[in-house]
Amino acid sequence: MAVKISTISTLIVFLALLSLGHFSHGELRLGFYNETCPNVEQIVFGVVEKAFSTNSRLAPLMIRLYFHDCFSNGCDASLLLDGTTSEKKAGPNLSVDGCALIDTVKDALEGNCTGVVSCADTIALVTRDLVNLASGGKARYEIPTGRFDGRESLASTVDLPGPQMSVSDTFKMFEKRKLSLTDMVLLLGGHTIGVTHCSFIMDRLYNFKNSQKPDPAMDPNLVKELRLKCPKKSGQNGAINLDQNVPSSDIVDASYYKQIESRRGILQIDDQLATDEMTKQIVKDLAVSNDFLVRFGQAMVKLGSFGVKDKDTGEIRTSCRSCKNLFCTA
Ligand code: HEM
Ligand SMILES: *[C@@H]1O[C@H](CO)[C@@H](O)[C@H](O)[C@H]1NC(C)=O
Ligand SMILES: *[C@@H]1O[C@H](CO)[C@@H](O)[C@H](O)[C@H]1NC(C)=O
Ligand SMILES: *[C@@H]1O[C@H](CO)[C@@H](O)[C@H](O)[C@H]1NC(C)=O
Repeated sequence: MAVKISTISTLIVFLALLSLGHFSHGELRLGFYNETCPNVEQIVFGVVEKAFSTNSRLAPLMIRLYFHDCFSNGCDASLLLDGTTSEKKAGPNLSVDGCALIDTVKDALEGNCTGVVSCADTIALVTRDLVNLASGGKARYEIPTGRFDGRESLASTVDLPGPQMSVSDTFKMFEKRKLSLTDMVLLLGGHTIGVTHCSFIMDRLYNFKNSQKPDPAMDPNLVKELRLKCPKKSGQNGAINLDQNVPSSDIVDASYYKQIESRRGILQIDDQLATDEMTKQIVKDLAVSNDFLVRFGQAMVKLGSFGVKDKDTGEIRTSCRSCKNLFCTA
């Protein structure tokens, strides 16, 4: 009898642990806030539209922030947590302006529907709206909601691809997050907007793989142009448009693929995408397609479902910068 009870209680403890486990994932759906915050989408769009009208840089910043948040530990707004060793502290500090916008939107949401909408969903909706605005209203995708906010944010767990990685190594990282090769090519289309800095491409311009020569994969005319913007001996670290098609450098459209097909990609990974056997046909198709915006939206939705937390593994923060739960690692 005693044995039986302990077996049963072990089983109960085991089941309880399972349900609390890290592997319970949230379920996303359209209209998650239909009843609890019916105007969530209008509230978000109102704030975002106003902010974008005075600062269009918010679009590339937020698209990148969404990618980084989702890629490291799932889309759980862990990137927004302040802390001496939080994700924010790792690598590029893109979160400064992005965080300020999320704070403004979150304040409006708290004012209208207190304690209801997660920061992770706020990022997803704000990003969707900025993609829409930066495409001149042409790109518009519905994005399911229901994400909860993570309680862990550690710079040491940030896991992002680097611009000099091969296509196949980069793909391994996407595959781990249940994203296909086509998804990866579509998502890198995010480089149709925004900038990089000279420091990321000096090797390609002057000393590719220690050859004392530029990267042969880059159009020599582009090398010349970029050398003027990024002089060899200059302390300055100027901004370089990722999409070299001048009229659409700040617009979300398919021109990135045409550019990389003409060897005018800026980061090494961009040019590689157009030449690597694994991806070149996908790039070729996208360069002439007329459905990039729709497919980019679908890939963004897919990225946005990775590693989502639920009510057991996450929480709804009040301030996106700090956890409510005491057991928070940031
Ligand atoms: C797959 C590998 C990727 C690599 C290696 C990569 C690398 C980079 C690098 C090095 C920069 C420039 C940072 C700087 O100079 O400050 C950048 C910028 C950017 N990336 Fe990526 N990225 C990748 C994928 C993505 C994806 C999937 C998205 C979005 C869906 C994205 C969106 C952006 C945007 C919008 C910018 C411009 C940011 C700005 O203007 O401030 N990237 N990326
Ligand atoms: C929320 O509303 C939308 C549109 O009115 C509807 O399509 C969706 O099924 C609703 N979702 C829920 C969870 O009630
Ligand atoms: C971000 O970078 C700028 C310029 O490099 C620096 O002045 C600022 O302190 C950084 N912010 C954070 C939060 O690290
Ligand atoms: C409610 O949302 C609107 C935007 O739709 C915003 O202007 C307003 O400030 C919010 N209300 C409160 C009390 O925060």
